Amino acid sequence: MSQHELPQSPRLRPWRDFLRLQTFLRPYAWRMTAMIALSLAGSLLGLAMPYLSKYLVDGALLHRDVHALWIASVLMFAATLVGIVLTYVSGRGYVRMSSEMLFDMRVEVYQHLHQLSPRFYARARLGDLVSRLNGDVAEIQRISADTFLSTLSNVAFLIGSLIMMIWLSWKLFIVGMVLIPVTVWLYRFYQVRITRLTAELRQRSADMGTLFVETLMGIRLLNCFNASEYELDRFRQRNDAFVKTVLRFQNTSLLGRTTPSLLLTGATIAVFFYGGEQIILGRMSIGTLVAFMAYHARLLSPVQNLLGLSTALSSARVSLGRILDLLDTAIEVTDPAQPVRLPAIRSGVDFRDVTLIHDGRKVLEDVSFHIPAGRFTVLVGASGAGKSSVADLAIRLLDPDQGAILIEGIDVRRVALAELRRKVVLIEQTPHLLHASLTANICYGRSDASAAEVERAARAAGLGDLLDRLPDRLETIAGERGLTLSAGERQRVALARAFLADPEILILDEPSAALDEDREHDLIASLREQFFGKTILAITHRAVLAAAADHVLRIEQGRLIGTGVAA
Ligand SMILES: Nc1ncnc2c1ncn2[C@@H]1O[C@H](COP(=O)(O)OP(=O)(O)O)[C@@H](O)[C@H]1O
Ligand SMILES: [Mg+2]
Repeated sequence: MSQHELPQSPRLRPWRDFLRLQTFLRPYAWRMTAMIALSLAGSLLGLAMPYLSKYLVDGALLHRDVHALWIASVLMFAATLVGIVLTYVSGRGYVRMSSEMLFDMRVEVYQHLHQLSPRFYARARLGDLVSRLNGDVAEIQRISADTFLSTLSNVAFLIGSLIMMIWLSWKLFIVGMVLIPVTVWLYRFYQVRITRLTAELRQRSADMGTLFVETLMGIRLLNCFNASEYELDRFRQRNDAFVKTVLRFQNTSLLGRTTPSLLLTGATIAVFFYGGEQIILGRMSIGTLVAFMAYHARLLSPVQNLLGLSTALSSARVSLGRILDLLDTAIEVTDPAQPVRLPAIRSGVDFRDVTLIHDGRKVLEDVSFHIPAGRFTVLVGASGAGKSSVADLAIRLLDPDQGAILIEGIDVRRVALAELRRKVVLIEQTPHLLHASLTANICYGRSDASAAEVERAARAAGLGDLLDRLPDRLETIAGERGLTLSAGERQRVALARAFLADPEILILDEPSAALDEDREHDLIASLREQFFGKTILAITHRAVLAAAADHVLRIEQGRLIGTGVAA
């Protein structure tokens, strides 16, 4: 697996990877300790109950002592009440804390996703990422919210019960415990299978999510090519696979729960038999057997809980693996530790011996050129020549494999990313529009802009006619991914974004691809006006735009083949 990609199939993480949750736990250490202490106190109170029943039988009933009966009853009630209150308080506090913690985790994953490179997104499946960010984090939240404390109190209760049972009668204890190793073995047996099925289930569900996302994002393609039946077939196949896995999972986890508890019931009967015999022979008090049976009967529920816990833990382990795989995907473009400030742009941008490799292929090879400051430069070349890659490198969506990009002689890798991307703005070939108002789209990332500034930028970008037609003007919602706007209008929204951002260097990737010749002249005029004296690099294959430039760069198959002044 390359460290810049997600592994193809889900992999199970070693249990010690749960320790990595401690970075998220640390801020809550104190609250956590308090919750644990409260919850343990609650379980200890629960342990007192069976012993009080021994006192009730031997001390009160057999001695016909009403006073002792009162004491035993009041103590039992008090112990139960306080125990319940403690469990409630600790449970509530814990759930709140765990949601806060999981929120932190989601923020971390989300932030990490923001920083991954175009190489990662070229491979990653959107539906899969969404299911990790949403589903898997929620799964860990769900499990940690209702299992951690209950596990702890179950373990405490179990250990306490065992001690009390040995103390009451070690012989009875041995009789009650002979079947336990078999139970534990059975439980391990099923646990391994359940873990595997959980991972498979998660993958199947992500497969379906991916299918939905892909199909719905390409709904126009689906309709243009009559592909509804085809997509439904694909969906049916994936759904069948999903349902089959669900059934296998259900069956296995049911068996995993029922068989061990059958064995435990057998153990209870053995205790009854042996204990009864001891009482008949006069070797044990009735109260002791009653208390012992109470402890033994109460073993079942913590053991069952722990069995259920193992399923939950396996599921959490799978989700954790999927989240850690994301967090472990290396960030290629990182902020410098000691950033250098960019001076005013006087000389321009230099690509120096730049080589960029995608999948072992040199997309750009030893490319060197100069983009002069304050001029309108055009980069031309056939489709696939590496033009958009030049733009990606200039704003550090990617870093070159060899060579460097320099602004005013400073390697862009030494400049803070935020500063670089404030001073150099890229308008992409197919700009992304949010499902939000035009205003929100234009001042994306710059919420401080005033309404007048937004309007001015929109008009400068040639959106004036459109705005005058729209009843809600700038408050009109652009559809999801801008479907209600034409390609040319989308380009102009992106241009308005750039005007508002007012960078030192503007890069436009095929800005006129969706425009007719007249509009293209308008575009050139407004670029020259709005960015007068600034540095512009336009990527294009259109003659009109190329002819308007002060300076032309030509690349072919990843190599620079010419520079010059436009004809
Ligand atoms: N993320 C990526 N992973 C793999 N190959 C890529 C990636 N991005 C671009 N390429 C490849 O690099 C080459 C140049 O792409 P690009 O710079 O977009 O060309 P242009 O903009 O000139 O059409 C193309 O062959 C393209 O397939
Ligand atoms: Mg391109």
